[in-house]
Amino acid sequence: MHKIYIHPLPVRIWHWLNALGILLLIFTGLQIRYAGLFDVISFRNAVVLHNWAGFFVGANFLLWLFFYFFSDRISVYQPELNPRKYFPMMFRQVYYYAWGILRGERNPYRVTPAAKFNPMQAMTYQIVMLVLMPLQFYTGVLLWDSTSYAGQIDMLGGLRVIATVHVLLSIAFVGFLMTHLYLVTLGHSFGAHTKGMITGYEEVEDEPSSSDDAAKG
Ligand code: HEM
Repeated sequence: MHKIYIHPLPVRIWHWLNALGILLLIFTGLQIRYAGLFDVISFRNAVVLHNWAGFFVGANFLLWLFFYFFSDRISVYQPELNPRKYFPMMFRQVYYYAWGILRGERNPYRVTPAAKFNPMQAMTYQIVMLVLMPLQFYTGVLLWDSTSYAGQIDMLGGLRVIATVHVLLSIAFVGFLMTHLYLVTLGHSFGAHTKGMITGYEEVEDEPSSSDDAAKG
């Protein structure tokens, strides 16, 4: 094994503040949605906290966005646009997580600082960060001040439609988070990826040398 530096400091700061903010949003969101069913904090406090956490996560998002915009690390999100290359790589990765890993096979993806995400991660993270996050923020802002944004709300089908989209997106976030938490435990040890997101360094396997291959016959 050898260590490589794959998570620069701004990404790590963004990630853990984001995780904290999202967990707070899920908790306060549930408290707002199910007020009366469980009352850990008051409805009013839940609304105030939810609004602050929403703007905090929105501002923090800009740290992630600007870091990648102005850094050569943007390469980690470079999409593979050739479907003949992309889909076989993607299916190899899905096969590995669904079956190969249970048979003790090697992860088919080799992590490098310039390409730290396998095709599954790169696509999922882009959907979360560039589609779900902005949409969730936008619908949240409309609900936050529905009087000022009444025109946009009417144009989009009314308050009910916006609230439903906001709730559906939050279900998608919870789904992503549960899958994310499972997948990040699948490194060479249970906490290896999480440790990597704290220190910036990830331990990766050495490439088998040609003499190893020859020895295997
Ligand atoms: C709460 C516990 C969480 C843990 C332990 C955790 C862990 C990790 C780890 C270990 C990585 C490194 C890359 C990987 O292995 O996939 C990562 C990356 C990432 N996580 Fe999380 N995560 C958490 C919460 C979240 C939440 C709530 C979100 C967003 C909704 C999120 C979004 C992301 C994204 C977008 C990346 C890629 C970051 C980049 O651009 O480099 N994570 N996470």
